[in-house]
Amino acid sequence: MGKLYFQQWLAGRDFGQKDMNAAQMANFVYAIGDADTRECVLVDPAWDVDGLLEQLESDGMRLVGALATHYHPDHVGGSMFGIHVEGLQRLMEKQPVPVHVQREEANGMRHVTQLSASDFVQHDADDRLEVGTVRIRLLHTPGHTPGSQCFLVADRLVAGDTLFVQGCGRVDLPGGDAGEMYRTLTQRLAKLPDNVLLYPGHHYADKPHSTLGDARRTNYALQVQTLDDWMRLMGGSSF
Ligand SMILES: [Fe+2]
Repeated sequence: MGKLYFQQWLAGRDFGQKDMNAAQMANFVYAIGDADTRECVLVDPAWDVDGLLEQLESDGMRLVGALATHYHPDHVGGSMFGIHVEGLQRLMEKQPVPVHVQREEANGMRHVTQLSASDFVQHDADDRLEVGTVRIRLLHTPGHTPGSQCFLVADRLVAGDTLFVQGCGRVDLPGGDAGEMYRTLTQRLAKLPDNVLLYPGHHYADKPHSTLGDARRTNYALQVQTLDDWMRLMGGSSF
């Protein structure tokens, strides 16, 4: 694998500086690519697409794709709480590239972004994507939404709203499923080693990333012992 290019950019600070909503939502956008071939993808490009593309240009990187963790407008653009969030639609106008989504997320993604089916590449759990010589694994991690996905590149996990440094994504929004989230946290992500670095979809904690080992020690969402306890914590019932 070639030399990794990996950037974590915070909305309202590193891009979208003039947007109060962007600053308040504290979304992270990631740029991942091959530092030798200069190819890269953007993860969840939203809020200020022009600003993100300018960052890539000043880094001398060429955009070859977009990865979407899930269909919420603060990650992919669309309408949310009466505001319009810029996102994939703007990217398609400025610099059209394939948008990589999980198959289970494709319909919701089309609805929220208003893009057409041909803009998306639909993936299955554990598909691989090559960006230059950098390999990214697409992990299907349902719970926050049916087709939420995390991206594993080298020893880094870009987790969207599936897992934060503290806590995990909500499961009470449309498409959320507390039981699936429990299986994601206790089974699908449990195989990853402690030294993997967790890069979340929002800056909700006092640090922007964490090792999975530290998260396992300090994050309540990774410490629940049984599905029944989990369902009580999430305010539902497992029956
Ligand atoms: Fe979300």
